[in-house]
Amino acid sequence: MNNTITRESDFINLVSTIYYSKKIKIMTLNLGDEAPNFQANTSHGLINFYNFLGDSWGLLLSYPADYTPVCTTELGRTAQLSDEFKKRNVKAIAVSVDGIEDHYQWVKDINEVKETEVDFPLIADHDRLVSTLYDMIHPNASGTQTVRSVFIIDPQKKIRLMLTYPASTGRNFHEILRVIDSLQLTDKYRVATPADWNPDEDVIISNTIKTEDAVEQFPKGVYEIKPYLRYTPQPDIEK
Ligand code: BEZ
Repeated sequence: MNNTITRESDFINLVSTIYYSKKIKIMTLNLGDEAPNFQANTSHGLINFYNFLGDSWGLLLSYPADYTPVCTTELGRTAQLSDEFKKRNVKAIAVSVDGIEDHYQWVKDINEVKETEVDFPLIADHDRLVSTLYDMIHPNASGTQTVRSVFIIDPQKKIRLMLTYPASTGRNFHEILRVIDSLQLTDKYRVATPADWNPDEDVIISNTIKTEDAVEQFPKGVYEIKPYLRYTPQPDIEK
């Protein structure tokens, strides 16, 4: 399905096809759904989201507003982690409803304050196209600003993680990297990662594998706690 939409006219068509009842209601996004494509004006020029992502993983972040303190720390942190995202083949992109001029000016502050260089695009979503598509405005939290949403999108353009934080709580970027590591590992091997797992710690063997087969598939060892709870040291994954 080609669900690319450009700006207002296409957006209105989209709205009329998927909204229902007198109250505007957008279709809910779920894990495993195709991430909606869009075109948007950004601090790196006009971007088609799918073309921007190419074969990479995507990290789509919304934040409430430019020139706010928590957002300054978050976008600065994202920039500081640029090499970590590159290692994992992840492209970051952020969105707020502020205009492009504010984005340009504010980025200078972020670079100065966090001693970094914001190297990813900021979407100027003044008409709320992206925010609405991704359900980033939660009217009972704020009718005008986006909440702090996180979407991780895989190279097949499927949504693999959705997180929503309140405006007053800055995101934990260790957690975002940790989930990316878990997703990339569990896509490659038939394993899952336990509570509070961190990279290089033991992982859980899928219950679809018999223990006798697991021993062959996981040469680093199989440790059975219960028949349904078997661990193995983390298999190697290239970064
Ligand atoms: C902040 O980024 O500091 C912020 C933004 C909106 C509401 C509260 C805090």
